[in-house]
Amino acid sequence: MKTYKYEAFTAVIEEQIRNRILQSGDKLPSIREIKAKYSLSTSSVQNGFEYLIIKGLVESSPRSGYFVADKREENIPEFRTKLPPVVRDEVFMKNMLLTSKRISESSSFNTAVPGDLLIPQKLILRTMQEVIREKGASLLRYYPSNGLEALRKQIAKQMGIYGCRFNPDELIITDGALQALTIALTSVTRAGDVVAVDSPCVFSILEVIANLGLKVIEVPVHYRSGFDTDYFRKVCGENNVRALIVTPNFHNPTGIMMSDDTKKELLKIAEDHQICIIENDMYSDLYFEEKRPSSIKSFDEKGWVIMYSSFSKTLAPGIRLGWLCAGQFYARAERAKFALGRSVSPLYQELILKLLQENSYERHLRSFRKKLNQQAIQLLEVLRKSFPEGSYFHRPQGGYSIWAQMPENMDMKRFHQYCEKHNILFTPGNTFSLTDKYDHHFRVVFAERITPESLQVLDKTGTKACEFM
Ligand SMILES: Cc1ncc(COP(=O)(O)O)c(C=O)c1O
Repeated sequence: MKTYKYEAFTAVIEEQIRNRILQSGDKLPSIREIKAKYSLSTSSVQNGFEYLIIKGLVESSPRSGYFVADKREENIPEFRTKLPPVVRDEVFMKNMLLTSKRISESSSFNTAVPGDLLIPQKLILRTMQEVIREKGASLLRYYPSNGLEALRKQIAKQMGIYGCRFNPDELIITDGALQALTIALTSVTRAGDVVAVDSPCVFSILEVIANLGLKVIEVPVHYRSGFDTDYFRKVCGENNVRALIVTPNFHNPTGIMMSDDTKKELLKIAEDHQICIIENDMYSDLYFEEKRPSSIKSFDEKGWVIMYSSFSKTLAPGIRLGWLCAGQFYARAERAKFALGRSVSPLYQELILKLLQENSYERHLRSFRKKLNQQAIQLLEVLRKSFPEGSYFHRPQGGYSIWAQMPENMDMKRFHQYCEKHNILFTPGNTFSLTDKYDHHFRVVFAERITPESLQVLDKTGTKACEFM
């Protein structure tokens, strides 16, 4: 173990404190005295005192020197009343674990965020340092509660290129996408209202809905057209649906993309029934083909679409920055935002502004998309080859998940037990619904760096799955 020069004197002081030779408030020898006695440099002695201070053994007093720390507080008798155990919601905890547990790079296919090695760490950290240098202490203030104006303008400009006419004044900067969704739902519903979601649906969205006291109807997505619009029309005819939450591009967990016809048809149904569409645009930047797909918002003439997104999936989940274009619902949305937090971190707002203005975000996306596409192809090849006949793995056109459907006669209980025993992490299908209709499905995420080892793990798991038929 590495030892430091200052330990020559700090060990002696520690020993003397332990044996009560030195007591609370006693003055310690000066830096000069210690330097001479132990033949140390001034900085070594200072480092030694720093170390003792951090350990809580010593205190310094300006111009008076160093003293043994006052330990009287430690002698206060302990509060004896036993605290009650913390009660946690079991289903919530299980879902959290299934979607966030990470064991190793080669066997974690469950968390839908970019893995450490796919995050552009250098770019983000370097830009953050530049922002800190340029903006200094102004980053410590509140920023406007609807967000930095320059950032709202930049996002509006960027989305304009994709056919969405955003008024920057109707945009709200949020702490990620889930906060944006919470604000959108708060703006158009009241507790007890009915909302529709695309199904399967990520547990985090179902959780936001439940927390707001809303009732939910699950409307199936469709491999070819993207969405079961007939079923949605029927649901709207029979229920007082207030909003539809939908991810038309590279839906999580299926990776499905809606056709333009479906997007338009969905909008028409929503307009006919005066239902607000809350469009999740988080994955649209992660397309594998030529260009970014259209959004429902780009067809919206009458203002029934609220759109939201964040940079959690495209840059890094620790950058807490999302946005929401609230349109005609702005007044309620702005108040809801304020109640959830006075200001999104100025550092993140300035960081994203800089990354967008300098085009670094776009440059990062170019290589990120290529990498994700390569990984999707690699995984699909192994999955399709090794899992039992009758399995189906949907090829995503973007995003980062593959939706797996196992044959009806496969014993899923044994499959999940095998995965658990060998620390192989997929997200089970039932996590994506309030029903158990997806018990023969699971999600495979390819946002961790894929290595020969991870491909081997998948191959072995698929071969094993054949035994559970
Ligand atoms: C569909 C969807 N919405 C929202 C989130 C959370 O996003 P954010 O970190 O931006 O709040 C996730 C990821 O967990 C997600 O998959």
